[in-house]
Amino acid sequence: MCGIIGYIGRRQAGPILLEGLKRLEYRGYDSAGVCVLSSNGNLSIVRVLGKIAKLEERLKAGLPNGTAGLGHSRWATHGRPSEENAHPHTDCSGELVLVHNGIIENYLELKEELIRRGHVFRSETDTEVLAHLFEEELRRLQTSDFSAKGGSVSGGKLQTSDFRLQTSDKAVLAAVNRVTKKLRGAYAIVIAAKRWGRQIVGIRKDCPLVIGCADGESFLASDVPALLPFTKKVIFMNDNEAAVLREGRAPRLYTTTGKPVHRAPQDVPWDPLMAEKGGFKHFMHKEIHEGPRSFEDTLRARTYEENLTSLLAEIGLTPQSAADISRIQFLACGTAHHAGMVGEYLFEKWAGLAAKADIASEFRYSARNLQPGTLVIAVSQSGETADTLAAVRMAKSCKGVLTAGIVNQIGSTLTRETGGTLYTRCGPEIGVASTKAYLAQLAAIYLLALAFGKARGSISSREFRSLTEELLELPHKLRVVLAGLERPVTELAREFQDSKGFLYLGRHVLYPIALEGALKLKEISYIHAEGYAAGEMKHGPIALIDREMPVFVFNPKGCGLYEKMRSNIEEARARGGRILAVITKGDAKMSRMAYRVMEIPSASHEFFEPVLCVAAAQLFAYHMANLKGLDVDQPRNLAKSVTVE
Ligand code: M6R
Repeated sequence: MCGIIGYIGRRQAGPILLEGLKRLEYRGYDSAGVCVLSSNGNLSIVRVLGKIAKLEERLKAGLPNGTAGLGHSRWATHGRPSEENAHPHTDCSGELVLVHNGIIENYLELKEELIRRGHVFRSETDTEVLAHLFEEELRRLQTSDFSAKGGSVSGGKLQTSDFRLQTSDKAVLAAVNRVTKKLRGAYAIVIAAKRWGRQIVGIRKDCPLVIGCADGESFLASDVPALLPFTKKVIFMNDNEAAVLREGRAPRLYTTTGKPVHRAPQDVPWDPLMAEKGGFKHFMHKEIHEGPRSFEDTLRARTYEENLTSLLAEIGLTPQSAADISRIQFLACGTAHHAGMVGEYLFEKWAGLAAKADIASEFRYSARNLQPGTLVIAVSQSGETADTLAAVRMAKSCKGVLTAGIVNQIGSTLTRETGGTLYTRCGPEIGVASTKAYLAQLAAIYLLALAFGKARGSISSREFRSLTEELLELPHKLRVVLAGLERPVTELAREFQDSKGFLYLGRHVLYPIALEGALKLKEISYIHAEGYAAGEMKHGPIALIDREMPVFVFNPKGCGLYEKMRSNIEEARARGGRILAVITKGDAKMSRMAYRVMEIPSASHEFFEPVLCVAAAQLFAYHMANLKGLDVDQPRNLAKSVTVE
């Protein structure tokens, strides 16, 4: 997602900011910008739509001298990719400048209030509200009572027009404290203000921000790679912390309420490539671990009942028009299709709507005449998959059919061809195998199924609230799964790395997860794997089972067909199949039955089990391919985005 770099020291800031941004290019972005603070207090901003190379070209035309500044590469979430929406953003008076990574959930409310108080907005971003909020706080400090010099930080009571005090850490933190108290969401912010003089300030909550320390100079960055050309001494900031960086002084760290934090810098022993991968050997592994964040960000600000109307508006509907929909048709390919398949169960149960997920490459050549009142939901990470686009065009030719997309890539073709897009927010996915994007697609489908259920009156407000509460707990549980399974799954992969084929079995909402687990293993480890609905085994595939055919099963205790699934597993076991089972922690019965187990916490609702189960399958596929020494991120014959038929 977005990349941040900040610098203060004795060297010219421009080249340092550009170099830092280049090191963050791997994160993906659509626009970029920098601001240099000159010694006379001027803030010079340059922004471009497009690549860092274009920014560099523009800067060649002349960038004011200055030994402090901040830079940003933007991956659009709120507001299309454009120069106006690119960061840095500034306030009405040009008094301050800031860059931001994350999502301000309550930005619309804040924006409306700020507009009522006379602020003028120049972008469509959520970020700009931050600039205006800080503007108000700086103005408050300037105009307030001189007598209260040195007032306390908590409660933001510091009141002075004395310049020295206004630039003190106390004054800075008073503003930080007051602004952050108003925010809901996730943010890493770097900010500079004329009135703060030669210093830059970093603030973090739920988005990474790292301080780089060097002799007489300091840096802030969203990720270590941006710092590596300059220093290997870093301080990782924690949530609700603020850092005040000044030239010639070691960075000072505080809580956002103003309490000093003492954390010594540490050495990062990473080479630049390792750093891009966050210390992981492969992007896919890193992205599996970004699954919880991706899920969480996609839910952000979209789960509240009062936001139902705006959620439906994202896909071009109102609660009324959603209530009038008579059928759901998912169209997608590969992993995205497996997300749609989970959607079938959710929409049928929660919204009382018939729902079907079709493979786009088959659907586009079918003679299907969709009924009027059908809502087609195309699911795609890239938004550029040729078959998905063709299937949507075909669906649009049917009378009375509405279309919507669940898409990750802002501005992609699919987003322009459907009636509305619910964006997933997983940032760029670099590994060819889709992992964090799948989690985000599931999150989006949960949101829509619940919204339709509520709009159609098939779930009550109470059910809606309790389901969304459980939904919001999933990212934490997913983190527990990933942390707990990393080691046992590596050992499991070591034990089974020479197996020639696998069966993956699941039922109900876990049937698509069986398909997804098999797809992941095939595409990156080149081992044949079949995903099956476990109840279908007796109708053929059971003939394949013997000791040499490991059977990977998903049977957490909460799943509705738990007992049925156990019988299916017994049948496989009776034929010599070694059972590798994803089970609920502490399930003694399943433990006795399985050859090896992968324990996960309970998802608390059977419909949420896919989120936790798929993580086990992703990790297993990853470790199998890694142990085989394969090119995990770019498996043979595959492309990230299949833009041809
Ligand atoms: O960009 P899309 O989500 O439309 O891509 C669909 C499939 O090509 C994609 O999910 C593919 O199956 C992945 N390689 C699976 O890991």
